[in-house]
Amino acid sequence: MSRRSTEQGVRIVTSNQEGIHESLEDELIKHRNSAFRKPIADHTQKAFEAIANQITQHNVPIIFDSGCGTAHSTRHIANLYPDSLVIGIDRSQVRLEKNHEEALPENALIAQADLVDFWRLAHQENWQLQRNFILYPNPYPKSIHVKRRWHAHPVFPTLLSLGGILELRSNWKIYVDEFAVALQYSGYSHAKTQIYTPDVAWTLFEKKYHEDEQMLYQCKQDLCQS
Ligand SMILES: C[S@@+](CC[C@H](N)C(=O)[O-])C[C@H]1O[C@@H](n2cnc3c(N)ncnc32)[C@H](O)[C@@H]1O
Repeated sequence: MSRRSTEQGVRIVTSNQEGIHESLEDELIKHRNSAFRKPIADHTQKAFEAIANQITQHNVPIIFDSGCGTAHSTRHIANLYPDSLVIGIDRSQVRLEKNHEEALPENALIAQADLVDFWRLAHQENWQLQRNFILYPNPYPKSIHVKRRWHAHPVFPTLLSLGGILELRSNWKIYVDEFAVALQYSGYSHAKTQIYTPDVAWTLFEKKYHEDEQMLYQCKQDLCQS
């Protein structure tokens, strides 16, 4: 197993990888130089069209909460940015249905969709985001799974093309370090890992890790500034 738990039973990430993955640069070069042709799944196409229809009615800056899970963060971000429209996107209907708190704010929408396709559809429609949050993505800590991490995935150039302020958080420092290095390779020479200390927990994962006194890390990059 590549994960173990603390005394409180909270998982901490362990990996057979000790630093930046040796093939990260090769993956980035490959993805920069070749088109990503995977067909768009029907269900994400439909979810995107439903969101796009609503967006035309709002005409306000757009924020993505990418991989929003139970959408706690979507609610929090919508309250933080009341003049923006926040779209929480997750592929897991089960997670989205756990969102049983009070109704979402009026400036928040939820889409059950695959981010790989949703980001590409947004790019095809020339959307430019105000912000894009990727909070506690699945870490895929086994070295052999590096290509599943967002920064080594073929969709990474598309993610960058959506613009805005891109903010990633994780409790696995190597993931954030790799994300920052991938941004540097992509022209954002100042991208870096920082320690993140939450005042309030934005997500259930953040709450769990913070209460377990795990270190949290973030990489925040304005994609309009290299
Ligand atoms: C570790 S959970 C974190 C959830 C939430 N951001 C939080 O911090 O509580 C990662 C989430 O990303 C979602 N996810 C992973 N890959 C995805 C993809 N390709 N498209 C949409 N959602 C995805 C999973 O369903 C899961 O809810």
